[in-house]
Amino acid sequence: MARILITSAIPYINGIKHLGNLVGSQLPADLYARYLRGRGHEVMFICATDEHGTPAELAAAKAGEPVETYCARMHQVQKDIAQGFRLSFDHFGRSSSPQNHALTQHFAGKLAENGLISEVSEKQVFCKTDNRFLPDRYITGTCPECGYESARGDQCENCTKQLDPTDLINPRSAISGATDLEVRETKHLYLRQTLLKDRLAAWIDSKTDWPILTTSIAKKWLNDGDGLQDRGITRDLHWGVPVRKGTEDWPGMEGKVFYVWFDAPIEYIAATAEWANAQGLEDAAWQRWWRTDLGADDVRYVQFMGKDNVPFHTLSFPATIMGSGEPWKLVDYIKSFNYLNYDGGQFSTSQGRGVFMDQALSILPPDYWRWWLLSHAPESADSEFTWENFQASVNKDLADVLGNFVSRITKFCRAKFGEALPAGGTLGPAEAALTAELSTRIHAYETAMEAMEVRKAAAELRALWVAGNEYLQAAAPWSVIKTDADQAAVIVRVSLNLMRLYAVLSRPFIPDASAAMMQALGCTDWDWPDDVAAGLNVLPIGHEFAVADVLFEKITDEQRSDWQARFSGVRS
Ligand code: 2FM
Ligand code: ZN
Repeated sequence: MARILITSAIPYINGIKHLGNLVGSQLPADLYARYLRGRGHEVMFICATDEHGTPAELAAAKAGEPVETYCARMHQVQKDIAQGFRLSFDHFGRSSSPQNHALTQHFAGKLAENGLISEVSEKQVFCKTDNRFLPDRYITGTCPECGYESARGDQCENCTKQLDPTDLINPRSAISGATDLEVRETKHLYLRQTLLKDRLAAWIDSKTDWPILTTSIAKKWLNDGDGLQDRGITRDLHWGVPVRKGTEDWPGMEGKVFYVWFDAPIEYIAATAEWANAQGLEDAAWQRWWRTDLGADDVRYVQFMGKDNVPFHTLSFPATIMGSGEPWKLVDYIKSFNYLNYDGGQFSTSQGRGVFMDQALSILPPDYWRWWLLSHAPESADSEFTWENFQASVNKDLADVLGNFVSRITKFCRAKFGEALPAGGTLGPAEAALTAELSTRIHAYETAMEAMEVRKAAAELRALWVAGNEYLQAAAPWSVIKTDADQAAVIVRVSLNLMRLYAVLSRPFIPDASAAMMQALGCTDWDWPDDVAAGLNVLPIGHEFAVADVLFEKITDEQRSDWQARFSGVRS
């Protein structure tokens, strides 16, 4: 038995995520966690909400709530939706937790002790009406290049020119519209990651088994032009982790907070501490996952994320860990994803384009989405959600292949033998061939799962479902029974046992359908079929079952076009 720590990129607190976000980190991480648990490994699966930063403050203001209230509310909303998709986190934490405050301040203190923090004075725009410094993108004005009146302080989106806020003509606050802006001097902390460049480069070079998507992005940032730069890790904001050196004040940093990207990955550790505290466990319980001096040396740590998050996880967060000089666990493997597009364009949170997680659950149960998203995960390239493809995939794979097998065999048995596994007959060559084929295919499925090749794993699982259908079709118990009831009984017993195997094997993808199959079979034995022949003999003669409800309803053309129309616009 191995110990595997799995983290999914933590979603921003402001707003409900869309299906592209889901398939880019949380869902494949859940697939992997469920698979490893199914194989009997010890898993710690962590996620959280990423609660700090200007967007959270602004979203709270827009909602007319204090930011603490807004974050607490939205955390619960995201937690409930995650549960709706059956995401099996061991803990879904909050980056605003006291544990994360303490750990973030601890890391900053260690980095300072090790000479990896510098203090830099800079000029920044302050708005007197808003009583705050404004990040570049929260200043708007007229572009000096093209005259566009709503250019942002970092870039003009009309002519794409990169700008400084001081370049703008008639600058104003994007928050309040106020024009009483002035440039003020302010001091910030920088993480001197350039000093760690050689260590980071050697570490990334040693990761020869990482996906190309991950290493190519990491190397680009490390080597291109002035790729790896020292990075500002503080902000003049009210909401965030107050800047402290461990438990001590940091002179000159009063009223400032750490930058959201500094504290967010530290929340992976803090959320594990939150988990331990919530269970009433000692610190040792979480430290054995994270401290190599306290038991984590035999942990394998895997991270899941979208490609936009890769630079922070391959460079900045490792720089924090390495620079601390303490024996914290570094990531062993980073599985990253491309983007999922939506019906000829991009999913967009800011524009409300696409299907959002709550909307998805309001029209169909989670397994339908889980299956489509995972079997079309954007691994080697961006992929696209279309309603036609979704309908076809659900109807074919889930309803026609898996659902049909389950319905046919349970109904046939009930009609001819009653609701218990019938006696009689012995296994023949067809069953031997089936066993051999299943063994090969299960091995291929396991290999894909262990390599986190999500689409391939889905294809292998589907091939397993097809193999069962083909066996049943060729064995044709409905004909055989007319002349040889014993032979029909064998086919039925093998097929009902195969249904249990499907429940076990499919559980990482479609946990609700798996539970429904097991419940119908009156079985609680979730043991993985390490030995297929034995696995096809778990339910004995006389074991009672009930015919399952329809596992998957087909999506009609009418539903498809209704949903297509309903989700074609923009969510407000
Ligand atoms: O891209 C995002 O949604 C970020 N909130 C991910 C943060 S992952 C990590 F650093 F915690
Ligand atoms: Zn312009």
